[in-house]
Amino acid sequence: MTVTPSTWSPSSWRERRALQQPEWPDPAAASAAVGRLGANPPLVFAGEARHLRDGLAKAIDGRAFLLQAGDCVESFTELSTMRIREKLKIMLQMSAVLTYGATLPVVKVGRIAGQFTKPRSDAFERVGDEEIPSFRGHMVNDDAPTAEARIPDPRRMLEGYNQSAATLNLLRAFTKGGYADLTQVHLWNKDFVASSPEGQRYERLANEIERALAFMAACGIDLAAERRLHEVDVFTSHEGLLLDYEEGLTRRDSLTGDWYDCSAHLLWIGERTRGLEDAHVEFFAGVHNPLGVKLGPGATPDEVVGLCERLNPLRVPGRLTFYARMGADAVRELLPPLLRAVRDEGHPVLWASDPMHANTIRTADGVKTRRFDTIMRELEGFFAACWEGGVWPGGVHLEFTGEDVTECLGGADDVLEEHLSSRYETLLDPRLNARQSLDLAFRLAELMRTAPR
Ligand code: PEP
Ligand code: CO
Repeated sequence: MTVTPSTWSPSSWRERRALQQPEWPDPAAASAAVGRLGANPPLVFAGEARHLRDGLAKAIDGRAFLLQAGDCVESFTELSTMRIREKLKIMLQMSAVLTYGATLPVVKVGRIAGQFTKPRSDAFERVGDEEIPSFRGHMVNDDAPTAEARIPDPRRMLEGYNQSAATLNLLRAFTKGGYADLTQVHLWNKDFVASSPEGQRYERLANEIERALAFMAACGIDLAAERRLHEVDVFTSHEGLLLDYEEGLTRRDSLTGDWYDCSAHLLWIGERTRGLEDAHVEFFAGVHNPLGVKLGPGATPDEVVGLCERLNPLRVPGRLTFYARMGADAVRELLPPLLRAVRDEGHPVLWASDPMHANTIRTADGVKTRRFDTIMRELEGFFAACWEGGVWPGGVHLEFTGEDVTECLGGADDVLEEHLSSRYETLLDPRLNARQSLDLAFRLAELMRTAPR
């Protein structure tokens, strides 16, 4: 296990510079909300976080692959069974494609049940003639474009907790209660996806999976008794940005005595808040969850090795994942020095690609979007850099939704610029729709099959 430094406590981050935090207008109300969170039941258990860590450890040396995906930011106004099910469905489909196509177990982690806060490059935005504070996610303020709506309200942390609990409850029911059963592999392919070229390709793959199951049954294997065919683990994750919330949900595990942030299984530190001496690194150094850190084009080998030493001093495999988000044009050049530095120091790190966040563009009309081809190009560059560096490209971190939105351009089903306005629903960053996600999974499986093993 990692050590927790003796100077650490769930609130020791408060002594450090904390970037991207809201200024609550009423600090007493904020303390009260943190206190309430502290009295609430944990959302996840330490044992589950350790189970995820073990899965991620396998992905470091090519025995598994991480699929982490979900909304850019979840919404307080969009909690619904249908939305959660659609997200799970596309994740199960992608996972079937990757597992079957690359013959590797897929570790499934949603950006879900807690992804309610956003770092912003600009603290203010212009609306008409007015400068108003930026939207920072529903756990902080409201997205309506008025100065009043943007006032931070700490009670939103409690609402975020409640929505996370409801979401997680449904996810657990779906994943353990039969919906994720591999014999349902055809059922996940419904509605608008099924008729698309990717949907039809998926249908053929589902037929093959069915035949493989029938073959095993014919060989005398008791499929009904094999729990792993009928249930899956879907873990939760979000950016651990709002430290009041994360502190409020931090608990000491009764089995090991170690601290865990029980707001999600995996927490990641964003590109804007990963300063070695800053509050986020201080806080996450002390909890024992699996952690991720985003690495943008400015990340240096020294910083990256520093993050390894600070966040994983005992070198526990599965504790630390780095997500390279360098940009399609830059990844081939900027990633190799980081891979080398970490390898030379002998740190066990899971290297994954976030091909979304450095590839955001604006159309001539000012609409924020991403091109499917550019996303694929960053993934290809990431794979090539990893293979050349003798490192297993162990995962992907995506923004997607299970619905038929038109937010990213391209894909087999070609979303064009003039389509963007028809279903552009994201609160912030553009997400892949279900067809684009499935298309990406097929291409990713092909990329993985070309791995020099
Ligand atoms: C995100 O994942 O939504 C995000 C803001 O990423 P990054 O920190 O990489 O910019
Ligand atoms: Co985003």
